[in-house]
Amino acid sequence: MSAFEHIIDARDLHAWYGSSHVLHGIDFQIGCRETVGLLGRNGMGKSTLIRSLLGHVKQRDGHIAFFGQDMSKAKPHEVARLGVAYVPEGRGVFPNLTVRENLIMAARPNRDGNYE
Ligand SMILES: Nc1ncnc2c1ncn2[C@@H]1O[C@H](COP(=O)(O)OP(=O)(O)OP(=O)(O)O)[C@@H](O)[C@H]1O
Ligand SMILES: [Mg+2]
Repeated sequence: MSAFEHIIDARDLHAWYGSSHVLHGIDFQIGCRETVGLLGRNGMGKSTLIRSLLGHVKQRDGHIAFFGQDMSKAKPHEVARLGVAYVPEGRGVFPNLTVRENLIMAARPNRDGNYE
């Protein structure tokens, strides 16, 4: 059994682009060995949520933990070192590869050399 319950555990997450308040207190968890799909209309904030979790949105607030480790103030490279990767959407993917191949291509080992 893992020492942590959630791979990602975000609480009361807020994000802004300038004066535009886009995320309003989001709670978001992904459990171990769980696959989660995030659905919503265009412009609802799906990408902003993912980008906020990874530290790509500068103006954010709330509590974020990866693998039980507090990463609320972490920079993108610090999250990447944990083995967390972000696969782009739309024109950012390689259309000649399958979804699985696009995902595998982004996989990087964490500091322990593991892919988990
Ligand atoms: N770089 C940015 N600067 C300012 N506003 C932005 C920026 N990126 C997104 N937004 C705005 O933030 C809101 C959420 O956008 P976001 O891209 O997160 O939505 P989404 O759910 O991923 O949409 P889609 O389904 O089209 O991918 C929208 O109102 C969008 O216009
Ligand atoms: Mg999006």
